[in-house]
Amino acid sequence: MMYVVEKISDCKATLAALRHDGDTNKRVGFVPTMGYLHAGHASLIERARAQNEVVVVSIFVNPLQFGPNEDLDKYPRDLQSDLALCERLGVDIVFTPTVATMYGQEPTVLTRVHVDRLGEHLCGASRPIHFDGVCTVCAKLFAIVSPNYAYFGKKDAQQWRILRQMVQDLSFDLEIVPCPIIREEDGLALSSRNAYLSPKERHTALILHDTLVSLEQKVLVHREFDASRLIAQAVEQIDRAPGVRLDYLSIVDDRTLSPIDRIEPEKDVLIAIAAYVGTTRLIDNVEIRVER
Ligand code: PAF
Repeated sequence: MMYVVEKISDCKATLAALRHDGDTNKRVGFVPTMGYLHAGHASLIERARAQNEVVVVSIFVNPLQFGPNEDLDKYPRDLQSDLALCERLGVDIVFTPTVATMYGQEPTVLTRVHVDRLGEHLCGASRPIHFDGVCTVCAKLFAIVSPNYAYFGKKDAQQWRILRQMVQDLSFDLEIVPCPIIREEDGLALSSRNAYLSPKERHTALILHDTLVSLEQKVLVHREFDASRLIAQAVEQIDRAPGVRLDYLSIVDDRTLSPIDRIEPEKDVLIAIAAYVGTTRLIDNVEIRVER
């Protein structure tokens, strides 16, 4: 049986009933989402289902993480199909709070959670309030659900790293589980925002993955380690492509998320890209490590 709950108190009470089994506490796996679920979300839910006795999914389009000129109003929604997917995947509780439930009648929440440094580059540079919004809503959701494990897609490379830091810094008793990016056959990373793309834009969007694959090959196969040069060459190519406007393409230290000039052997590195295809902003990334 799947419970769909809208109120925080109902979510807590339903969870308490499912979690406690005599003297033992069942493991709770949590997948926070903004809905419009696709195969990427399904892979997170399946992982949570495999590793926990109780699985909770939240569906909440969080206004705090959208900038004034972003797509909050047109963000795609389809609750019925989301619930059908959750039911098929054996989710126990779907938490679907309203904005008023989470933040009061008019947004009255006065607390923001901010993680220093890790949000300075990549998406944080072009979406200044975004990660404070993500951290604030996730802190609140973690407090409501108290999961043992919380599952996040690696497509949002900066998001899960920032949340892992928040969990450590604020002593949340849970583990952030980053999960592989799920792609279409031609390489396009799955995203709810792919729904905005026209067929022509859908084709143009492949440039994100193609750029990453080409950079990965240059580093791992051709052993080109001059990060600034690699980026400059790739940016020149993207700038020549019609219908794409690059937001950033960066090679960063996997841990600090700060840009690096040179790729060193045996250091984890993240190559991350964000670009507008038409008016749709898409992101993708690849993690690499050069062996000696
Ligand atoms: O990745 C998302 O969908 C959102 O940023 C999250 C983690 C659900 C917070 O609103």
